[in-house]
Amino acid sequence: MKFSALALPAGGPRSTVSSAAFAGTMRSSREMMGASSMQKNRTAPAASPRALGRSLSRFSACLLAAWSIAWADEPRGAAPAGAAAAAHADPWWKHAVIYEIYPRSFQDSNGDGIGDLNGIAQRLDYLEALGVDAIWIAPMYPSPQVDFGYDISDYRNVDPQYGTLADFDRLLKQARAHHIRVLLDMVLNHTSDHHPWFVEAASSRTASRHDFYVWDDGKRGAGAKPLPPNNWVSLFGGSAWQYVPAVDQFYYHKFYRQQPDLNWRNPKVEQAMFGAMRFWLDRGVTGFRLDAITTLFEDPQLRDEPALGGTNAQGDPNLKNTYTDNLPEVHDVIRRMRAMIDSYSGGRLLVGETYVPKTSDLDPWYGGAKRDELQLPMDTLVGLGNKLDAALFRQRLMEAETELHGSQPLLVFDNHDNIRSWDRFGDGGHNDRIARIVAALLLTSHGAALIYQGEEIGQRTVTPTRVEDVQDPIGKTGWPKDKGRDGERTPMQWDISNAQAGFSTSAHTWLPVPPDYRTVNVRTESADPESLLNWHKRLIALRRSNSAVRNGRTVMLDQPNASVLTYARVAPGGETIVVSLNMSGKEQSVSLGARAAGLEGTRCRTLLSSPAGLEGRGIGERIPLPPFGAWVAAVE
Ligand code: GLC
Repeated sequence: MKFSALALPAGGPRSTVSSAAFAGTMRSSREMMGASSMQKNRTAPAASPRALGRSLSRFSACLLAAWSIAWADEPRGAAPAGAAAAAHADPWWKHAVIYEIYPRSFQDSNGDGIGDLNGIAQRLDYLEALGVDAIWIAPMYPSPQVDFGYDISDYRNVDPQYGTLADFDRLLKQARAHHIRVLLDMVLNHTSDHHPWFVEAASSRTASRHDFYVWDDGKRGAGAKPLPPNNWVSLFGGSAWQYVPAVDQFYYHKFYRQQPDLNWRNPKVEQAMFGAMRFWLDRGVTGFRLDAITTLFEDPQLRDEPALGGTNAQGDPNLKNTYTDNLPEVHDVIRRMRAMIDSYSGGRLLVGETYVPKTSDLDPWYGGAKRDELQLPMDTLVGLGNKLDAALFRQRLMEAETELHGSQPLLVFDNHDNIRSWDRFGDGGHNDRIARIVAALLLTSHGAALIYQGEEIGQRTVTPTRVEDVQDPIGKTGWPKDKGRDGERTPMQWDISNAQAGFSTSAHTWLPVPPDYRTVNVRTESADPESLLNWHKRLIALRRSNSAVRNGRTVMLDQPNASVLTYARVAPGGETIVVSLNMSGKEQSVSLGARAAGLEGTRCRTLLSSPAGLEGRGIGERIPLPPFGAWVAAVE
C-alpha cells in the first residue's frame, strides 16, 4: 500500500483515500528510507515577525476590519456591515499559518511527563512571536488514549491528563490576547468503545443508541461460527469487523477496534455530533480540523472491496477503498456543517483531513464552484511526498492553482502521522538547507500553510529502536515493517535547562526526548539569526507584509529546469517577488525569463537567502544558486 503523493502510481492502489493515506506515506517512506538521516548543526534569532509585520502592511484597512470582527462571538450581523464585507472578501484563513499542536508532546506544566493545556498556554508568547494565526490542537477530550486521543469517550470535556474545561477556557482567552485562534480536532468518523453511546449500543440490539454505530449480523462458518460480513480491513490492521457476543453482531471499525465507526445514516448521529461542535463553537473556538472526514460513510450493501494484490505492512491484503471511503453522501453532511459554522460570526473555519490521490479530487471538498463545504481541505499532494523533485512540485503547485475553482489550498508538509519532512526530503548531508527550501515553498506559495510543532526548528523523526518501547499500537502490531508514529511525536525541544529539553520536569516523559535537543531547540535557535527557526520567522513575516505572497497569482519561471523550482508571485497591484529553490546538490544557474513571462521591473533585490548573502541581480541576468540554495527576491 503506497499513498505517498510522490510514490502513488497513476490511478494507483489507493484511488480514493482517507487517513489511510498517512499510513501509506509513513510505511512507504519508512520502508524506503532505512536508517534516517539524523544529523545536523544549526544556527539562529530574530525580530518578531508579528512585530515586523505590524510595522508593514499587515494592518491594511481591510485586514483591520477583518480582525476586528474576527473575534466576535455574536451572531452574524452584529458586526458593522463594512467590516463584515471586507472580512468576507479576504477572510483571515486564506493566508493563515496554522500551527498543529500535539498536546501530549508540546509542553508539560505539571511534571507528569505528558503535555497539557496549561503547557500550551505557557508557550503562547513563543507562538505569537513565530507569527502563527491559529493553533490546531489534536484531541484533548476524555479518552482511553488507545489512539492517543483519537478515541474520544466524551466530546464535551477535557481529559484530566490535559487539564479541565476551566483550563481550556483560560487558554482560549489567553490565545485570543495573543491574536491566536484555536481550532479543535473533531473526530466524527468514530468514537471510543468507552463512549457511553457505544457501551449502550453494544449492550442490546434494542438499545436506543444501537443504531448509532454500523452493525451487521455477519456470516456463519463451520459450527455456526460468526464470520465478518465482508473483506473490509482496518487501516490499523486485521478485519474491520469486531464481533460482540451480547448482540450476536459485528460492528465496523475503520481504525482500531476500540474506535467503532458512527452510523452517519442515522440522523440522530448528525444531530448529536453537530451538538458537540456547537458546544465548542459557543465557547469561542474558531473551528475544527475534521479527522478522517472522507470515511464517514460506507456502502450500505457492504460489498467486498476489490483486491489490488499483495499485502501491506500489517500483513493484510491491499484493497481498493471503493466502498469505505469518499462516498458521495459525505458532502451533504459537510454542506449542512458549513451552514452551521457560518451561522456563527467571527470567521469560523472547517479544515479537513483530506488525503486524495490527485489535486482535482480536492475540488469537491470545497464544494466545487459553490464553495459551500470545507474552506480548507488539506492538500497533502504537494508536501507529503518523499522526493525533492522540482518538476513534481511545479506540477502540483500549478494544479492547486488551476484545478480548484480558485479556492485556497492548505499546504501540509508535516503532521503527527508522517515521518517528518526533515527526514523525508533530507539527503543526510544537506538537511538543514533542504528544510529551508521546504519552508520557503510552504510559506511563499499560494495558499494557507500548516506547520507541525517542531518543524520550524528541524526536529527529526526519532523512531523507537526496540519494539518494547513503542507506544503507537500500529507500531507494535506492524513491527518491524511498520514502527508506528512515535518518531514524529517526540516531545517539543525547547531548551537545554534539563534532560527533557524544557518539555517536562519529569525524568519519565511519555516518549523519550531525542538527544539532539542540545543543539536542536527553540532557545538556541532563537539566539542565532541564521537558524532554521529564524528562517521560518522571516518567511512568516514576509507573508504578512508582502501583498504578492499574500494574494499574488503564481507564474512559473524557467520551467524546463529539472533541478530548480522558480516561480514569481504577482500581486494584483503589481508587487512581485521571485522565489528560486535549487533542489539539487550541484550549483545551478537560473534564467528567469522574466520578460517573456510578462514580469515588470529591472532588478531583483534579495529579501531572504539560504545560504545567507546571495546577491540581487538584474532581471535579465542568470542567477547562480549554490547546492540546495534558496533565494527570495523582490522585483523592482
Ligand atoms: C487521523 C489522525 C490519526 C488517527 C486517525 C484515527 O488520521 O490524524 O492520528 O490515528 O485519524 O482517528
